[in-house]
Amino acid sequence: MELIALGCDHGGFALMEAVIKHLEQRGIEYKNFGVYECKSVDYPDIALPVAEMVASGQAEKGILICGTGIGMSIAANKVTGIRASVCGEEFSTKFTRLHNDSNILCLGARVTGEGLALSLVDLYIDTPFEGDRHTARVEKITEIERKYSHE
Ligand code: RB5
Repeated sequence: MELIALGCDHGGFALMEAVIKHLEQRGIEYKNFGVYECKSVDYPDIALPVAEMVASGQAEKGILICGTGIGMSIAANKVTGIRASVCGEEFSTKFTRLHNDSNILCLGARVTGEGLALSLVDLYIDTPFEGDRHTARVEKITEIERKYSHE
């Protein structure tokens, strides 16, 4: 059973409520890292635990929502093993799963309406990684991470 890690800041709170309801209707398991009420929070503080849960393999995928989706994606992509993608339309959402094996979907609640966002969530969750020639390319991303890792 697939587990999705969730997180949002105040900019993404209302849309995350809709995403949670949608996942529950589909019977998809999730772990929510907040925020749990619409209060101001710094998006890196939320992106980190979500990214760590996905990177450790405890969750298969993540969904992060802020005003634009961009702050969340920049923060999440600092975690080794994370390939977070900001998506606001269907083509990119589908192909970032097929070709990049993206593991966190970032949505911009001030950019993308609720109806479209929920259909992007479905597309992201339901589209598998294509593998083949794309596997070597994704591995090259990991090589870049290794090269610049100073841990
Ligand atoms: C918060 O005002 C806003 O900066 C945040 O939600 C996000 O859009 C950052 O990238």
